[in-house]
Amino acid sequence: MSRDASFAPDLHRRRRQRLLDALGDGLLLLSTAPEQRRNGDVLHEFRPGSDFHFLTGFPEPEAVLAAWRTGRGRHRAVLFVRPRDPAREIWDGPRHGVAGARARFGADEAHPIGELWHRVPDLVAAHDRMFHRLGADAAFDRRLLDAFAAIAQKRRRRQPAAHPTLQDPIPALAALRLRKDAAEIAALRQAAAATVAGHVAAMRAARPGRREYEAQAALEAEFRRHGSPRNGYPSIVASGPNACVLHYHENDRRMRAGDLLLVDAGAEVGGCTADVTRTFPVAGRFTPEQAAVYAVVLRAQLAGIRACRVGAPWNRAHHVCVRELTRGLVALGVLRGDVGRLVAKHAYRPFYMHGTSHWLGRDVHDVGAYDDDRDAPLPLVAGAALTVEPGLYFGPRETRAPARLRGIGVRIEDDVLVTRRGPVVLTAGAPKSIDAIERTCAGR
Ligand code: GLY
Ligand code: MN
Ligand code: MN
Repeated sequence: MSRDASFAPDLHRRRRQRLLDALGDGLLLLSTAPEQRRNGDVLHEFRPGSDFHFLTGFPEPEAVLAAWRTGRGRHRAVLFVRPRDPAREIWDGPRHGVAGARARFGADEAHPIGELWHRVPDLVAAHDRMFHRLGADAAFDRRLLDAFAAIAQKRRRRQPAAHPTLQDPIPALAALRLRKDAAEIAALRQAAAATVAGHVAAMRAARPGRREYEAQAALEAEFRRHGSPRNGYPSIVASGPNACVLHYHENDRRMRAGDLLLVDAGAEVGGCTADVTRTFPVAGRFTPEQAAVYAVVLRAQLAGIRACRVGAPWNRAHHVCVRELTRGLVALGVLRGDVGRLVAKHAYRPFYMHGTSHWLGRDVHDVGAYDDDRDAPLPLVAGAALTVEPGLYFGPRETRAPARLRGIGVRIEDDVLVTRRGPVVLTAGAPKSIDAIERTCAGR
């Protein structure tokens, strides 16, 4: 009965129907995430597969969904799940079981997972088309190919096609997940609120002499206190020069007075995650150099957020940020020359080497297409959520930057919901101006 259970059978039925209507007639087969071994007999914490959870709300490992349309606006959903097992449940806790899958998750039919491969041949044989992504799970594919072979063998007098027409359902599923529904927007808002609280706690907890992971503990304790069972991704808590390592995860350096601390962390709530970065002074006050760099990144970020409008190319925020950052690099004395020409020759790249935005949702780098068939950026649609996260990074050995800036890394990241009324910053509560940050750091 895990914490990831989402008891909203009507919601999940509506999502499945929308997906199946987009795909057309045929059999959808989709499994949840596999359990992963960590070491010895220790498993990694289990998290349901994002697609599977989106369509079922079912929380347990070893679960498979089969679903197909049965007429206009209707479909049948079959869940294969771990059966109740009193002996195992003493060790692992209660399971929903076959009856629970029907009663609590709205499956029309449910069976023990052990029966999956006995039942798949009949399910497959009843459909001319099948929706399944090959290549994601080799063991599952192997069993499916065996089922195809068995069906063909059984019907060989009719010389049937050896398998149904196979179509990848993931693009349609990704398109569906790109536009967040009301339940996901509510989850994103909760994730954002938990994340904001965590970042405030980190600002209060950081101080010279403490380890980065002590600030991380304060951050994540606040996530948990706000109803987040886990992070959406491993927290980056990077002080001093570590801020220039984009995906720094060691989080064990002892912070020093004069350092900035870059915290990139997001709480997951209801299956959705926030993704927020704040950069603040460990000792509570920005130095003039740090403040100058910070002001450039902040100006770029605010301009980038304004660019997240329905109909605009999704990456307009990136172009806006790159222009602002380049202007700032000239003002800081890092680059010299005409801003337009510097942008055209990517002169900013040694100091800003990543993209500015990505889709956000159940996965921190969420599903959804970015470009059309001709590689042109797709326009933003209402209901999409994305990050805006410019930064400037002057590595400690970056000889192309003036010595006074070396070792400074700043990123500012917020989560934006695209609406017809303009961009809504879900994470606006996290202190961001220099003033607000210094006040929060002082509130320890
Ligand atoms: N936290 C990963 C990212 O910002 O994309
Ligand atoms: Mn991000
Ligand atoms: Mn991030």
